[in-house]
Amino acid sequence: MGPAAGVNLGHAMAYTPTELDSPFARLGGEEPVRRLAESFYDQMEATEPELAKLHQLDAEGRVSRQSRDNFGLFLIEWLGGPRNFSATRGHPRLRMRHGRVPIGEGMRDAWLRSMGRALDEQGIVGDVRGFLDARFAEVANFLRNVP
Ligand code: HEM
Repeated sequence: MGPAAGVNLGHAMAYTPTELDSPFARLGGEEPVRRLAESFYDQMEATEPELAKLHQLDAEGRVSRQSRDNFGLFLIEWLGGPRNFSATRGHPRLRMRHGRVPIGEGMRDAWLRSMGRALDEQGIVGDVRGFLDARFAEVANFLRNVP
């Protein structure tokens, strides 16, 4: 049985992704998702240098091409697009892959601020934005591994 008529669902999410109506589709496919990944690291470099320095950096001190591409491929898959991250890098196992990175509340919040700025810069608004904000917050919190 679903909720009774007239039940106030209050904060229930306005958007529940399905295979066809995925966040990947709503964002417009691979190019926009790759742009989000680029924007994310550009914002991180500009505003959260301590967090940026935890990443693999290139000769110019920028977050490396490899790191940007890995995260872009991950996002494409995680948002419901082609599964090329798993095909090339294996199961995401995010907690394991972040094992060498000390993530406390400070780094979690710095990560989320960088992503928030990138989502703003890319003009991502509305239901899909609400969905992404909530999911990123959940995963970032789950990745905390120091008090
Ligand atoms: C909570 C704070 C977080 C911190 C401090 C953090 C930090 C890092 C660092 C330092 C790397 C290594 C990149 C490199 O070596 O250049 C990395 C990789 C990665 N992170 Fe995070 N991360 C955080 C949250 C997240 C979240 C929320 C997601 C997913 C939604 C995510 C997904 C990834 C992925 C997919 C990789 C690449 C893994 C690979 O291909 O090996 N991270 N992260």
